[in-house]
Amino acid sequence: MDRLLIVTSRAPFSYRSHGGNDIRVPNVGGVATALNGVLKKYGGTWVCWGDSKNDREHREEDIGGYTIRRIYLTATEKSGFYNNYSNRALWPLFHYFRNNIQIDDTGFKYYYIANEKFAEAIMEKLDSKTTIWIHDYQLMMIPSILRNRGINNNIIFSWHIPWVSPEFFSIIPEGKFLARSVSKANMVTFHTRLYEKNFRSTLEYNNIKLVGHLKTLSVPLGIDTKIYTPLTGKHGLHHTKKVSIIFSIDRMDYTKGLIQRVKAIDKVLSYRTDLSGKFVYLMNVTPSRAGIPEYDEIKNRLEMEIGRVNGLYSTANWIPIVYMYRKIPFKSLLNHYSSSDIALITPLIDGLNLVSKEFVATTRKGILILSKFAGAADGLKGALMVNPNNINEVASSIVRALEMGSEERRLRLEKMKKYVLSRNSNWWYRRIINAADSNYDNA
Ligand code: G6P
Repeated sequence: MDRLLIVTSRAPFSYRSHGGNDIRVPNVGGVATALNGVLKKYGGTWVCWGDSKNDREHREEDIGGYTIRRIYLTATEKSGFYNNYSNRALWPLFHYFRNNIQIDDTGFKYYYIANEKFAEAIMEKLDSKTTIWIHDYQLMMIPSILRNRGINNNIIFSWHIPWVSPEFFSIIPEGKFLARSVSKANMVTFHTRLYEKNFRSTLEYNNIKLVGHLKTLSVPLGIDTKIYTPLTGKHGLHHTKKVSIIFSIDRMDYTKGLIQRVKAIDKVLSYRTDLSGKFVYLMNVTPSRAGIPEYDEIKNRLEMEIGRVNGLYSTANWIPIVYMYRKIPFKSLLNHYSSSDIALITPLIDGLNLVSKEFVATTRKGILILSKFAGAADGLKGALMVNPNNINEVASSIVRALEMGSEERRLRLEKMKKYVLSRNSNWWYRRIINAADSNYDNA
């Protein structure tokens, strides 16, 4: 790898005003953390979108080791590119949410314009040896735009959400156009074999002829295992407490199965009245994509459901669900991972889900309840695996976890820790970069 240029829609951090100064706020997330590590090692450029007002003053900056180059969008472009096409057409499409897919004429126009802006910034920073590494569903048109402008550089495209079956994919009018563009990369990576297979079938179904050799790879993203380690001292201790802690953290999103989870708590308490007061479910939900109607709606519905269940079972000194709707500091997250007995991670569908891996790496004796529709389920065989749509199954897994003996807990966790610690974020990017290098050398 000679030079690397990474492209994501979300920037690794944004600027906010604070006491008259611009301060940096990291956009924490697994992908950003891993990519930051790659660029620190290899050097290069990160092209991304400066979404906040204050970002405009920071078009380009050297942050020690690599350069960030931000692009800007007008309010109309943002609404078409981000709110409408990326998050009201592509996001529900790739998560099988048929009824949420909004098809309109203008979204794609602004999606294309925004992708062109990214492509222009990329071209400004290229030399003939640069490998361009593009990420996720917001940027599908970039390979086509670059190839049409005569750019022959090595392009890697990493896909972080599910890829659906070809018939479902065909719902979107611009589907063929989008898939053809992604196929113009030299290599496309996915988190599971199923998504990789669906992508290949989509190309075939749409009769997309490949120009040259397209390599595809399934390699799941891992976490930074230096950051997620068991806490020592009093925070690391599971004191002999009478109340078990169940924990979850998700973005506010209709794909996460949040309401089904609350219904499962209702189910547990309705048939195991003896468990009243024996556990607390700490449900942390991070604000996300607010202002987009489907996101505002799921928030209202979730909050009503939590109110209903707490109303049914709370007592003067106990409530079953403690709901926190805010971004919590990283230290608090580590404390929650460390002091929880059970992590309840049950998305209806999820490209990967790094929270499950973060919990496994951080906990000393916790139990993971995991949706079989999370990409991460492929490697986390020690979890209690559930179908999140089956409320009875989720409820009985919660009871099973609350009553599980220490030996079974230990064996399950040991197995998962081994996997998470070896397949970390360094492993992920090394596999991709090595595969890209050998692919390009042989082309
Ligand atoms: C998912 C997507 C990412 C996206 C993130 C946050 O993890 O795969 O591409 O950046 O959600 O969503 P946002 O809309 O805030 O960028």
